[in-house]
Amino acid sequence: MAETPKDSAPKDRREFLWKLGTGAGVVAIAAQTVASLRSLVPNVSYDAPTTVKVGLPDEFPDGLKFLPDERLFVFREGKTFHAISAVCTHLGCTVRAEALSQPEDTTIEGQRLRLTHRFSCPCHGSRYRGDGAAVSGPAPKALAWYHLSVSPDDGQLTVDLAREVGQDFRLTLA
Ligand code: FES
Repeated sequence: MAETPKDSAPKDRREFLWKLGTGAGVVAIAAQTVASLRSLVPNVSYDAPTTVKVGLPDEFPDGLKFLPDERLFVFREGKTFHAISAVCTHLGCTVRAEALSQPEDTTIEGQRLRLTHRFSCPCHGSRYRGDGAAVSGPAPKALAWYHLSVSPDDGQLTVDLAREVGQDFRLTLA
């Protein structure tokens, strides 16, 4: 017996509802999957900021100041500053500064530098000159120098721990 348009209406409706239900189920599962995966990614970054304010220039004595949180030595000579990493280039221990009995003036990369300290690593005995150059021990290279600037907001010295600079870098205040 041939199917009349009247007979096919409930079947079409059932098919439509089945497709609608299936589609809604697939969308719901996809949305739940995306939400679950998104929950694995934190909304905030826990990376340490690379630019750190370390204080007003006047708070730095002439000579050296060690900043333990940044593992950094900031040197001041009058109005001129530079910063050298305290992270040993061998396996990352914190190096110690030792004051020289007599400061030495030297020229490095065309810039005069007064050496007041040298550095040594307590872990495996690497030794560094006051400009950070490795002189003995397993350290494969010199201590890093980092970029210093003055924050326009509040005048604090700011170090960028992601921006290494050459040994001729100096920040000289007006
Ligand atoms: S970590 Fe400094 S010498 Fe090994």
